[in-house]
Amino acid sequence: MLILIAGSTGLIGSAVVSELRGAGHEVRRLVRREPVADDEREWDPPSGKIADGAFEGVGAVVNLCGASVQGRWTPAHKRRIRDSRIAPAGVLAAAVAEHGVPTLLNASSLSFYGDTGADVVDEDSGEGKGFLAEMVIDWEAATAVARDSGARVVLLRTGLVLSPDAGLLSQLKPVIRLGLGGRLGDGEQYVAWISVPDEVAAIRFLVENPEVSGPVNLCAPEPVTNDEFIRALGRALRRPVLLSVPKSVVRLALGEAADELALISLRVVPTVLREAGFEFRHADFATAVAEVL
Ligand SMILES: NC(=O)c1ccc[n+]([C@@H]2O[C@H](COP(=O)([O-])OP(=O)(O)OC[C@H]3O[C@@H](n4cnc5c(N)ncnc54)[C@H](OP(=O)(O)O)[C@@H]3O)[C@@H](O)[C@H]2O)c1
Repeated sequence: MLILIAGSTGLIGSAVVSELRGAGHEVRRLVRREPVADDEREWDPPSGKIADGAFEGVGAVVNLCGASVQGRWTPAHKRRIRDSRIAPAGVLAAAVAEHGVPTLLNASSLSFYGDTGADVVDEDSGEGKGFLAEMVIDWEAATAVARDSGARVVLLRTGLVLSPDAGLLSQLKPVIRLGLGGRLGDGEQYVAWISVPDEVAAIRFLVENPEVSGPVNLCAPEPVTNDEFIRALGRALRRPVLLSVPKSVVRLALGEAADELALISLRVVPTVLREAGFEFRHADFATAVAEVL
């Protein structure tokens, strides 16, 4: 199948391109600059312009774009987080509808559920509260035009992707190496995580499986508490993690983002993927983190 990908240079996008090509699919990439390779087509998300012919022969569009949510949430950064997701998703969904592309897979996030505390939630659960939850609701809603046109739309509600070079893991690694790591707050909040190989295998599975549509949680079957997360990280790096970082310090360091990124509890399970028959390669956190590091 010919698959058109936006956000192909990112952590997930670059791994998805390799996975799909490795499985025999043809990949065409939308880039926000002048194309320099045969497989590239230019697009400009703010204006909605996409190169002529970009959708020709395309069987599925995979949209993985969005500016990082890390960093202090100034008003400008919050605007960037929203603008880099909602408008581009709308532009691609409208193009999917216009060109009759059968399938759209759009990036999304488990932040949809807000803080779940100790309750286990899955795709049947409702939305939560907070800046990120509200952003995700609007992000997913931007794809409605594609669904209304009859396309199969899959919402890739992704958890924390374990990478040594990005996200929470890359920030914690040097701190733990220095022996200064510790659980955040009381450490009881849950982290819904997924390894890169499982994230990209799940995306390929969802491209190839016409039976699945709507929201899909991309996270391992067993979320871990922040305490378990930090301890496993310490074991993998062979460093003790004896400290605990009070919530007030996390809030001082991260500002508003602290409660939605570091202290939030996301006890989310991947019911749709499991019922569809997807098999996780990394279901155990300690094994996954040791392999990643
Ligand atoms: N990694 C995670 O743990 C995680 C968890 C939940 C959800 N997600 C979501 O999954 C998607 C991919 O994540 P990722 O970790 O691969 O992110 P990433 O490494 O930061 O890559 C995101 C890609 O988005 C594109 N992009 C950046 N700024 C943009 C802007 N202003 N407008 C349009 N596109 C822009 C870039 O692609 P080009 O330069 O090629 O255009 C970039 O490579 C994102 O939407 C993210 O929110 C990720």
